[in-house]
Amino acid sequence: MNSFKSYSKYYDYLYQDKDYNAEADFLVNLIKKYQKNAVTIIDLGCGTGKHVKLLAKRGFKVTGLDKSKEMIAIAKKDSDLEFILGDIATFKLKKRFDVVLSIFHVFSYLTTNEKVIKSFLNANLHLEEKGIFIIDVWHTPAVHSQIPEIRVKVFENEKLKIVRYADPDVDSLNNTVDVKYQLNVLDKETLVEENITENHHIRHFSKPEIELFAKYTGFKILHTQELLTGNSPSEQTWGVGYIMQKVPLLAMPFSFLMELSTFYF
Ligand SMILES: C[S@@+](CC[C@H](N)C(=O)[O-])C[C@H]1O[C@@H](n2cnc3c(N)ncnc32)[C@H](O)[C@@H]1O
Repeated sequence: MNSFKSYSKYYDYLYQDKDYNAEADFLVNLIKKYQKNAVTIIDLGCGTGKHVKLLAKRGFKVTGLDKSKEMIAIAKKDSDLEFILGDIATFKLKKRFDVVLSIFHVFSYLTTNEKVIKSFLNANLHLEEKGIFIIDVWHTPAVHSQIPEIRVKVFENEKLKIVRYADPDVDSLNNTVDVKYQLNVLDKETLVEENITENHHIRHFSKPEIELFAKYTGFKILHTQELLTGNSPSEQTWGVGYIMQKVPLLAMPFSFLMELSTFYF
């Protein structure tokens, strides 16, 4: 899947309407509520590093990880914070964190059960005891009730005009949507046009599915809500956040320990 390659160059323009500062404040409150002494955070699927940088400014020691080398290059450009190229399911670091964060639908890019399980396990392995794991994903009831449709987004400043078409193809059997993004970028100074096409394969999850993944990979779900608004999950909440806590090793199901041993050895 060719996601977050050429598209990366225009990612921050396309999401200029996203209030990352408000999101960082929200995350700080959430972290303080569930893990008040937290200092270290890893942001999985950090993209261009906005949350990493804003959380670092708020006093946390933050590492970012993403599998797109283009996104990581943008994140590193104006920062000396730690940004690592890696896959959520397979990265291995020799340190643990108080919080594993993965937001703005990053886990929805993990479309197979195997990848989701490996990623949950890997998050667990990189967490301190009782560490907190925060994700948000596309929510199945909302996708079913607000059937995805073609959307057009336009960004314009004095230098660029970007038109993005998002054309979704729903695979209802596999709980996935293939979104074909087409970007038309006009450089207003040179009048040069660039056309980019990328396919994003995205999965939606129901609450019981996340509960199942969490239970068998050593997590207890502490709270579920739409991030930022605090709304309860419903047909109106496209993205739903899950705040989970690492369960002490001895309290984990035997199946988890078996899976853990195959992961390590
Ligand atoms: C929608 S963007 C979110 C970026 C960032 N978290 C934000 O809030 O702006 C999804 C990001 O997840 C990354 N990603 C998707 N699957 C991944 C994986 N298996 N391992 C690491 N990163 C992944 C993509 O490269 C992309 O940067």
